[in-house]
Amino acid sequence: MSKRTKWDTIGNSDDSKKLPIYQHKASLQQAVKDNSFLVVTGETGSGKTTQLPQYLHQAGFWRDGRIGVTQPRRVAAITVAQRVSQEMRCSLGREVGYQVRFDDCTTEDTVVKYMTDGCLLREILADPVLSQYSVIVLDEAHERSLNTDILLGLLKQTISPTDKASKGRSVPLKVVVMSATLETDKLSVFLGGCPVFTIPGRTFPVISRFGCAIGQKDTESTVYLKEVVKVALDVHTCEMSGDILVFLTGQSEIEKACDMLYEKAESIDYRYDVQDRTVEGLLILPLYGSMPTDQQKQIFQPPPPGIRKCVVATNIAATSLTIDGIKYIVDSGFVKQLNHNSRVGMDILEVVPISKSEAQQRAGRAGRTSAGKCFRIYNQEFWEKCMPDYTVPEIQRTSLTSVILTLKCLGVHDVIRFPYLDRPEERFIMEALKQLYQCDAIDRRGKVTLLGGLMVEFPLPPGLTRALLQAATLGCEDLLLPVAAMLSVENIFIRPGHPAKQKEADEKHRMLAAQAGSCNDFTILLSVFEKCKASDDPSAWCKAHYIHWRALKSAFSVEAQLREILLRLRQKRDFPMEKFDGNKSELFRRCLCAGYFTNVARRSVGKVFTTMDGHGTMVHIHPSSTLFDQEGQLDWVIFHDVLATSRVYIRTVCPIRYDWVKDLLPKLHEVDVYDLSSVARQEVTDEEMAKWETKEAAKRQTGGSTEDYFKKLEK
Ligand code: CDP
Ligand code: MG
Repeated sequence: MSKRTKWDTIGNSDDSKKLPIYQHKASLQQAVKDNSFLVVTGETGSGKTTQLPQYLHQAGFWRDGRIGVTQPRRVAAITVAQRVSQEMRCSLGREVGYQVRFDDCTTEDTVVKYMTDGCLLREILADPVLSQYSVIVLDEAHERSLNTDILLGLLKQTISPTDKASKGRSVPLKVVVMSATLETDKLSVFLGGCPVFTIPGRTFPVISRFGCAIGQKDTESTVYLKEVVKVALDVHTCEMSGDILVFLTGQSEIEKACDMLYEKAESIDYRYDVQDRTVEGLLILPLYGSMPTDQQKQIFQPPPPGIRKCVVATNIAATSLTIDGIKYIVDSGFVKQLNHNSRVGMDILEVVPISKSEAQQRAGRAGRTSAGKCFRIYNQEFWEKCMPDYTVPEIQRTSLTSVILTLKCLGVHDVIRFPYLDRPEERFIMEALKQLYQCDAIDRRGKVTLLGGLMVEFPLPPGLTRALLQAATLGCEDLLLPVAAMLSVENIFIRPGHPAKQKEADEKHRMLAAQAGSCNDFTILLSVFEKCKASDDPSAWCKAHYIHWRALKSAFSVEAQLREILLRLRQKRDFPMEKFDGNKSELFRRCLCAGYFTNVARRSVGKVFTTMDGHGTMVHIHPSSTLFDQEGQLDWVIFHDVLATSRVYIRTVCPIRYDWVKDLLPKLHEVDVYDLSSVARQEVTDEEMAKWETKEAAKRQTGGSTEDYFKKLEK
């Protein structure tokens, strides 16, 4: 059978015919044909993500180009593609494929492509009219991820279907925006009043109960972790059959909870203890973003007869993924979120209370196929006083540096008047411009520099990219490529739950640190990477050293991909080269300084450090750092990121010498955001620029306060 006829005759599987969306197949296909923009909404689990792309495929859209479907989360993109490839009876990567950062599972044959929103944004950089695609489906728009919001604006503005022909497309691009809840009218208005297609769905009642463990003042994870485990076990022993879904905030917490659950569930005597005698055991499954794909698959499989499934997940299970059979929810009430903290002036990963709408969404997961129950471990007071009504869109709470650089590279110069669905505060845009200027990605006129043009090619945070490019300029990228790769995968160090094992693991990790020679967290990453790569049996080496083999395996692949990008850039573009005399360790750390000079801290008293970016935030070295407990011997350090719990912690730390950042630091204070703001709005004329330069010079002569400050430091 030829490919074409096979595709044309494939229908929908019996299971998928039961989904609410199936009734509306023909009218959905027609609606996409009739409209350039379409908003589709329906309850989570109604079949939007898995079915609609197949309907579009069956309607023949693939003849004009790929059907691209974006997801804010990589796990969702991968698992959904797996599922859809099964439903379409093809092997993954052929007709149905996926692409996420550092993992491209598509071929020439791929016509239905699931990908992260970040990937599509990169594709637009290379091909602004998306000539490969006939339809773009922006899925999970209600999540309001930064990249999806930017894509919405770009698709509205730059690839507006009305001016397609002039931009080299043969047929107009279709855009479908899918959203689980509420904001559909707003989306429709934003997209020029396009139609909204609502898939009616049925849900069953869910009884929600408040607990008493978490009140207004409790935000320590140890408190809610224990309680979550206790409640989940109570559900298991007291409630009738049906699977459990537990919501926690992140990988390490989830692994801890699974260990605890496993230990306790082992000791239950199922003959007497569990009320519903059909339940004979508990199958505990973790679910988080960076999990390997083969493990993710298990989540969706029904448990063996007599076994109750308990999935312990991050927020990913709230809307992106639907697990059938869930009847009980245990809600911790917390989520891990990246927030731009203006007090600290950085993006901080924080554990924060979820919003009320999020809590309702979580509870709703128990009522998809029958009535369910939701156990909240927090009390009513916490609900009323600590939980906001709605979640703030990511664009209004995180750093915009990467996306602003992307926009600028796409020729969107006026980043302030860009069509945002929800406008970020102007000071966030300013902050991003300032950072881009500081790392030489844009010049004073707001134009992308040679370096900025190189930086945008790397799917890494700007600081890390800058450090990597510095190394490349000095011909020592071999030092930085592995580090960049290691910082792009999940945590490589295993910390077992068992105390004795934990001690052994700590011992092994200390040994690795000692072997790394110069003592800092970045060098250890480099050393682990090199040692493992050089060993005869890398997986055994990892096991012996309590290192995640699969994390390292992905680091190897990421490193190769980054190397390839670098090679391509070297061949294609003008690549700056410099010389350096000095030893390797210094060279390495100086390269890091080039990217991380915005993350510099100096020890003030005892174990407390103060950041040097003008915010003067008090920070502590995180216990996971090899420099923890050696703070007394340190003076200046740089760090990769920041975690806030009861304190502000800096993670992945490296001692440096003030000399190395001395010339860079004034840059942090040199630019007045108000000046950049006029730059941001439009291209400045030469006349304006001259005025600006004069003003700057005058400021320098009168001795701006920051320069005084640094002079004092030098003495
Ligand atoms: O996108 P929406 O929330 O409307 O629904 P969906 O993700 O398309 O899910 C439709 C059905 O497919 C649900 O019953 C899921 O449990 C199922 N599904 C699955 O079994 N395995 C996956 N990897 C993804 C979805
Ligand atoms: Mg979906």
